[in-house]
Amino acid sequence: MRTHFCGELNKKNLKQEVTLCGWVNRRRDHGGVIFLDLRDKKGLAQIVINPETSDTFKLAESVRNEFVLKITGNVIARASEMINKKIPTGEIEVLASEIKILNTSKPIPFQLDSLETSEEVRLKYRYLDLRRDEMQKRLRLRSKVTHFMRDFMDKNDFIDIETPFLTKATPEGARDYLVPSRTHEGSFFALPQSPQLFKQLLMMSGFERYYQIVKCFRDEDLRADRQPEFTQLDVETSFMNEGEITSLMEEMVRGLFKEVSNITLTKKFPSITYDDAMKLYGVDRPDLRIPLQLVDMNETMKGVEFKVFSGPANSEKGRVAALKVPGGASISRKQIDEYTKYVGIYGAKGLAYIKINDDGPSSPIIKFLGDEVTKKVISLTEAKTGDIIFFGADKAKIVNEALGNLREKLAHDLNLYDKEWAPIWVLDFPMFEVTDDGSLNAIHHPFTAPSVDTKMLLKDPENSLSRAYDLVINGSEVGGGSIRIHQSDMQKTVLKLLGINDEEAREKFGFLLDALDYGCPPHGGIAFGLDRLVMILCNAESIRDVIAFPKTQTAACLLTDAPSTVSKSQLKELNIKVNLPLKA
Ligand code: AMO
Ligand code: AMP
Repeated sequence: MRTHFCGELNKKNLKQEVTLCGWVNRRRDHGGVIFLDLRDKKGLAQIVINPETSDTFKLAESVRNEFVLKITGNVIARASEMINKKIPTGEIEVLASEIKILNTSKPIPFQLDSLETSEEVRLKYRYLDLRRDEMQKRLRLRSKVTHFMRDFMDKNDFIDIETPFLTKATPEGARDYLVPSRTHEGSFFALPQSPQLFKQLLMMSGFERYYQIVKCFRDEDLRADRQPEFTQLDVETSFMNEGEITSLMEEMVRGLFKEVSNITLTKKFPSITYDDAMKLYGVDRPDLRIPLQLVDMNETMKGVEFKVFSGPANSEKGRVAALKVPGGASISRKQIDEYTKYVGIYGAKGLAYIKINDDGPSSPIIKFLGDEVTKKVISLTEAKTGDIIFFGADKAKIVNEALGNLREKLAHDLNLYDKEWAPIWVLDFPMFEVTDDGSLNAIHHPFTAPSVDTKMLLKDPENSLSRAYDLVINGSEVGGGSIRIHQSDMQKTVLKLLGINDEEAREKFGFLLDALDYGCPPHGGIAFGLDRLVMILCNAESIRDVIAFPKTQTAACLLTDAPSTVSKSQLKELNIKVNLPLKA
């Protein structure tokens, strides 16, 4: 239908007759001359309609925003005072000779370029929201990302194999989405939380290098970087150790950033152990763009009379830590109250602080600490005049979460970043975390290999490390993987430590345990959160902004109104009773 794209016209097209198709971005009446900005997937072109072309002009008068038009006309140079340097087509315009209205549009429910439109409205009319230049750019970038990934994986001899969505539970730590079976009454499929077990089976089948760009489904509490269905670049290899896997994947990520956004990431990504990450940054996904570290105060605070500090300092699971913020002495009382509220979200009972003013340290807690301890704190944190030192004192878990998140919030509020990009591998995760009731939970997933043998693992599971690795970029966990268990003895031991007895293990993972016994190669892999990677590359605030049709915080789709009730007959067929009044 068209000869050219709006957004690609320039001075080279002068004097040519062109036919364009697209949407009316804006219509302006300028005393007898009508201007239309016509928009297509490549951008905007200005169309001029003179009253001399009376039929065309009449039609143009009836045109409204978002009408779909086909326009034929001549490319002419704009008068010098009309040149718009901001858009690529700003030096030319198209003098229309013919306009055809391909479709009309009702006034749309929100201005496409308005910053005030709520996300609810944008999600309800997502097909209109996606017309926005920013959304078009994001989804085009996303497509470039998947294209690059496929190309890289293909060049490195990985093959793309699909795995089932209607399957059995794959434990990744979230709740399953269940699908009732009609043919097996009372039985349910689980949508995969990841293709973890299938990709391991593919290694047992001898494919050696697998990848898939695949949807995963997890019913968990949602945040800006979590969706109930999200996409992974999922990878598995045989006969490669963790160093080989991480360096190949690093090459992929480095190439990706360069290719799609011209970002140069460091030649070799640094790494940090889980233990150090928690000690220094309070989180297992440290944002290394922020040059602030937590400083341990347990030794210093053991003997102080301030029980809030000496209690945790002397307790086995307690921690007292300090966070110095350069230039932070100017933070107001009111702001400190806000930050105290903020750390409360993570369970902190307060947020003690010392300001280093021109006339020395000042704080409500100095009187409890004494001069000597105060001096020690200043020396350990290397605090200078103008700085503030915040404290956390509680169970280590609470202090880490509170100060770890406060560190990121302060960096955001006070713009404390000292670099733009900070990729880092986090290594040496513990195998298990101990829950409040004393049972063990897998930190990665139950198929991750420990770095010790079965005997050692059974002897001290709580302190055993795993062969897992996470890739963190700018404080966001963009990928995680591990070397897997490839012997059934070890797999049974780990399942047992997780409280899964032999019978339950057979029922849930019998197929895996069997497969491990038929010549399973050593193998390992990783999965990247595609949505998170694209979010970072687009500098977007939420992964919702880089997914065409995302769900809300309560896992609903405002566009289609899913989830929704189903008819009685559908439920009957599935032999399912719903304990709520049904609509249909
Ligand atoms: P994991 O659970 O760490 O590992 O997931 C891998 C990556 O997927 C992304 N991710 C998410 N993105 C958006 N919304 C979510 N709800 C969500 N959950 C996870 C993260 C994360 O790093 N099977 C293993 C991988 C392996 O061991 O190979 C797995 O799924 O970026
Ligand atoms: P209080 O003795 O409760 O008035 O607390 C004195 C100071 O210590 C206040 O600034 C509190 O915010 C702070 N504080 C109280 N509990 C904690 C805690 N667990 N960790 C860090 N600071 C705390």
